[in-house]
Amino acid sequence: MMLMQNDQVTVRTENLGKAYPLPDNQWLRVFEGLNFELRAGELVAVMGVSGVGKTTFLNIIGGLDRPTEGRVFLQGQDLWEKSPEEIALLRNRFIGFVFQFYHLLPEFSALENVAIPLLIAGRSREEALDRAARALEEVGMSSREGARPAQLSGGEQQRVAVARALVTGPGLLLADEPTGNLDWKTGERILQLIIDLHRKKGLSSVLVTHNEKIARFCHKAYVLEAGRMKLFEGLAG
Ligand SMILES: Nc1ncnc2c1ncn2[C@@H]1O[C@H](COP(=O)(O)OP(=O)(O)OP(=O)(O)O)[C@@H](O)[C@H]1O
Ligand SMILES: [Mg+2]
Repeated sequence: MMLMQNDQVTVRTENLGKAYPLPDNQWLRVFEGLNFELRAGELVAVMGVSGVGKTTFLNIIGGLDRPTEGRVFLQGQDLWEKSPEEIALLRNRFIGFVFQFYHLLPEFSALENVAIPLLIAGRSREEALDRAARALEEVGMSSREGARPAQLSGGEQQRVAVARALVTGPGLLLADEPTGNLDWKTGERILQLIIDLHRKKGLSSVLVTHNEKIARFCHKAYVLEAGRMKLFEGLAG
């Protein structure tokens, strides 16, 4: 599948490493020396078995979890050099996250859930709700604006979550197994939606998935394995 891309790098990691502290002064080394590059307009898959560190990696490049070694550059800027406030601002403006289990707030409607990032960004309630309504329209959920998450199917909740991720107009989309909790057919529709929006909005996107079939929709796929990021050669054909 041909997607538009250019040569500008959006995300680059340099010798990235993460270790979590364990009891008794031990460390769990998840990965080290990761050099990864996402060019502007690319849609890249990251695969790998459970526990290998895919979520950890995504959280680190998305400003949610601090690396123990190495650096992350977003548009050439050293992410983890910044203050927590600057990182929070960058996340709000530049990054959209989609999670496996949607992470919608149960007490709010679909429309309110999508409006929240705009309210955090300091937009008026009126503008936030207006833009949220348009974002819901883009994911085909206009008719369910008033529904709470519990009243929606998994696929519908993920559509709302995609709208929430993109409502602030971010350049970078990070999706952590966005179809992992859905049946194949529903998952494929969500994937198609993400690919369509990726193109239409000129996003740069990283898609974590267990699924080789899903990785085939991407420009490139990497496998995180034994603490290393390897190019997955199985995409051709
Ligand atoms: N906050 C934490 N403290 C300690 N260990 C952690 C923490 N978060 C993750 N880990 C460990 O780091 C490793 C990588 O976890 P991670 O969630 O990144 O894997 P994953 O590849 O996303 O797995 P899955 O495919 O099951 O989602 C695992 O061994 C996990 O137990
Ligand atoms: Mg994970």
